[in-house]
Amino acid sequence: MGAIMQPKATTKTPDDLTITARSVEFDYLSSMKKNKYWHSNDPVITHFFNALQATFPEGERFFIESARDTRDELPKTQLSDTLKEQIKLFIKQEAFHGREHDAWCEALEELGYKKMPAYEKELKDMRLWSRKHIAPLTRLSMTAASEHFTASIASIFLYQRPDLLENAAEPFRSLLLYHALEEVEHKAVCYDLYQEAGGGYWLRQLGMLSALLDVMRQVSKRHIYMLKEDGLWNRKNKRKARKLIWGPQGLAWALLPKLMRYLRPDFHPWETDERKALLARFGHYLDEAGIPT
Ligand SMILES: [Fe+2]
Ligand SMILES: [Fe+2]
Repeated sequence: MGAIMQPKATTKTPDDLTITARSVEFDYLSSMKKNKYWHSNDPVITHFFNALQATFPEGERFFIESARDTRDELPKTQLSDTLKEQIKLFIKQEAFHGREHDAWCEALEELGYKKMPAYEKELKDMRLWSRKHIAPLTRLSMTAASEHFTASIASIFLYQRPDLLENAAEPFRSLLLYHALEEVEHKAVCYDLYQEAGGGYWLRQLGMLSALLDVMRQVSKRHIYMLKEDGLWNRKNKRKARKLIWGPQGLAWALLPKLMRYLRPDFHPWETDERKALLARFGHYLDEAGIPT
């Protein structure tokens, strides 16, 4: 297991990085009531995003706890003041994200998807169980992987599938974009903490594998549930759902090169910097929504 060491990445967090915790609040329910299929008038894509985001609140609480628990186990002097500050801001950003995605989930429940809270409870139980039984660094390996995953979504919006962002109605578009931007800002925080805490290569890869399998399982069961609830889990939509993930323009293929980079022993999240390009391309949506950039 120890054959591949985890060398300290040579890429570093950019000096001009600012991590800003923006507090945004939107009304999801009235937008859903106006158009239930708010993404491209398409139930398959809309429910994909509804399903994906429903895993965020509990996921984000898991991320926060894993970072906090790992940090608190280290000697006080081990981490730089910069990283300590970044961890605080990461926690603040994720807490705000969790609050908004909770509100989005409540709107879904209100709209009639009554099983959503039960799914949420299942994730919460898993989080509480893992906090008791799984070491902080192991949990942090899953968090670092998930952070690479969420930052990759930002990169996919930017370079591969801008339509996935642009064709979402407001306020979903603004929320997804604001979240993507903040995921980019804090993308290396847990990774750097993982390295400082002595996390190794194989555990990092195991973290990716388990985070990936878990998100696929959690998203697909919610996706299928909501489509079934609408009476739309038919052959045509099954094909569409498969295409969204596995088709030639599918998310799996967009994600693959990014996952491959994570396999490199000297990988670092700041090998790529999406901040400027994200704002140049989509910043006007944030301006219109009154979200500071
Ligand atoms: Fe987040
Ligand atoms: Fe995050």
